[in-house]
Parts: sequence; C-alpha cells; structure tokens
Amino acid sequence: MHKVFEKYSIGDMTLENRIVRSATMWRMGHPDGSVSDLQVEWARQLAENHIGLIIKGMATISRDGRVSARQNRLDDDRYIEGHKKITEAVHETGGRIVCQINHCGAASDHEIRLSPSGIPYPFTKDKPAVPMTVDDIKRITKEFADTALRVKKAGYDGVQIHCAHGYLLSQFISPVFNKRTDAYGGDGVRRFRFAGEVLDAVKEAVGESFQVSVKINSNIEEQDESYLPDLLMMCREMKKKGIAFIELSGCDFTPRGRAGEHHYYLERAALVRKEVDIPVMLVGGIRSVADMEKVIDSGIDMVSISRPFLCEPDLITKFLNGQKESKCVSCSRCFLLLYQEIPDGPKCVQHVRPE
Ligand SMILES: Cc1cc2nc3c(=O)[nH]c(=O)nc-3n(C[C@H](O)[C@H](O)[C@H](O)COP(=O)(O)O)c2cc1C
Repeated sequence: MHKVFEKYSIGDMTLENRIVRSATMWRMGHPDGSVSDLQVEWARQLAENHIGLIIKGMATISRDGRVSARQNRLDDDRYIEGHKKITEAVHETGGRIVCQINHCGAASDHEIRLSPSGIPYPFTKDKPAVPMTVDDIKRITKEFADTALRVKKAGYDGVQIHCAHGYLLSQFISPVFNKRTDAYGGDGVRRFRFAGEVLDAVKEAVGESFQVSVKINSNIEEQDESYLPDLLMMCREMKKKGIAFIELSGCDFTPRGRAGEHHYYLERAALVRKEVDIPVMLVGGIRSVADMEKVIDSGIDMVSISRPFLCEPDLITKFLNGQKESKCVSCSRCFLLLYQEIPDGPKCVQHVRPE
C-alpha cells in the first residue's frame, strides 16, 4: 500500500492516513450561525469514511467577517456547544478534526466590508469596501485569538487560520489588494505583519500544545513571480512561530473550474516543502489515487481534497476498495450553489445529493 494510505503524525496528532478533507463551508448551519444536526451527521459520515483529517469549513470570528447566512459562527461562547457535537461525532469514529476560522473581509454580507485599501472583493465589485484603521486591525486580531480559544474549548484537534482565497488576511498579504503605506503595507514583510500578529495572538491564546495551522495561497493574481520569495519568507516565519502545518492553495482554483487540470499548485508546494522544514499539505485538483501518490512522492506530506467529497463523501472507502478516480469533474457548480439558499445539505450537481 502506498504511504498516502498509511498512518501519519503531525506532532502528537496521529492520523489514519495522509488524506485531508480541505475546509468546505456549506450553508448547513442554522440561520443564527449555530451548528445544525445535519452538519454533525455530515462530519460523522466523512470521518467514518477514512479521511485522516477533516478541516471544518470556515467559521466566522465576527459578524462583519461573515460571508453568508447559515455560515457557522464562533464569535461568541454560545456557539461552542454546537461545535462540541461535531467534534464528539468525529472523535467517536476515531477521526480528527480541525476548525478553520476566518474573517472574509470585503466578501462580507455585512453592510461594512473591511479591506486593506478599499478595493472591492473581485466577485462583488459593485459593493464598496472600506480601508481598515489600525484599531480595526487590533480588534480583529483579538477576535481571532478569542475565537481560536473557543475552537479549543469545543474539543477540536486544532485551529486553522484562513490566509487564502482573497479573504481578509489573504488580501493583506497580496500586493494586488494591499496598497497601504503604513506598517501593514509595502514589502512582503509588512504585508504579512497583520497575519503574523494574528498567529502570535492565537498561539498565545490557545497555548503551546494546541495545533495552529494556516491555509495560504501559493500564487497571486498579478506579477506572480515576485510572490515566490514572499511565500518562502512567510512560510519560514510560520515555522519560527510554531505553526503545525501549512496548507497550500491558490488564488485561481475556481473561477474557471480548472476542469481537466490536476494538482494545480504542486510545483510551488513541493518547493516550499524543500526549502522550509514544516509539514505541507497541497489542495486543488487532486482527483485520483495516482494524483495523491504523485503529490506525496514529490515530498509533500499530505493531500487535501474538497469538491470530490461533496460528490462522493465515501471516496476514500471507495479508493481502499479499488476505485481509482473521483467522479468529480471540477465543474465548480457546487461552489456556485453555495450562494443559493439550500438548507438541506451538500449537493453535487452530478448526484443532486450525495448518496
Ligand atoms: C462549496 C465549497 C466551499 C468551500 N469552502 C471553503 C472554506 O470554508 N474554506 C476554505 O479554505 N476553502 C473552501 N473551499 C475551497 C476548498 O477548500 C479547496 O481549496 C478548493 O475547492 C480546491 O480544492 P479541490 O480541487 O479539491 O476542490 C470551498 C470550496 C467549495 C467547492
């Protein structure tokens, strides 16, 4: 058996294998942002089907960081109980689950959409964004730390800070969205300052033994060559800060669907793994056993998968029984469904509802 299917440990967290369900938010929560029974059962189903590590879809750290209705919230202690039901369900099966937390910045459904420099979110260009003050930055840093502590109290195995996909921390990191001239804008070091302060505050809040990880883009929309040294610098900083693992994604996994393409960010992820001594997982376009083996054979520690599990939540069980490829064709229509009011659970357009 290839080592992708063998046990793997990150620090003191031992996983059944090197396969991760990447954070995938679905509008399954209650309208007030609390966890629904459907979400608990969905998490249990994924864990029972041999996914080594589940990363829970992004929970918001504050109301102004919420992307859409029914997104889970964790900006108040009253949401902890619901999350506990998810962690208990996963742990009962022997699985592991980390919770991703996020402020979605200019993508927010709040009337005030915060951003580094007032540039709107690319998919909602008609909605103006507000440049943040340093007080906003300090307030949100504290909200990340407070929320991370709630993640720990809810029984998760770790917390992941979302620094990817054009949301707030990612916009600060990107020179395309961050045009600031203060201490939080300019060269790569300054653009990383906000995320770095968040990571420090989170680490301090949760303590040394609780795993803090990061999801970050491996590329940017414009002048991408200049981003590579910044990416390596940020990953080295994260290593120094005691980050448990880095999940490498990218800025362009969905608008074009990328149907037919595989493991989009493999080259950069393999380079990061070679240059920085930190566990790395790759997400984006991993669709088959051969894809997974190729990623692991290139030195990357874990494979992370999202859309195929909406299509086939039991995909890894099927792989273990001889299926070689996912039915997911990366059409990304599941992603578009996310913006519609569909309260009854994950959907793949191929299957209407995963069986
Ligand atoms: C419906 C849907 C919801 C998603 N929600 C999140 C999320 O909450 N946090 C996140 O970091 N990425 C999210 N993603 C992105 C995935 O985690 C992943 O990075 C992306 O889909 C590429 O991986 P894939 O090719 O395996 O699908 C979402 C994707 C989809 C399709």
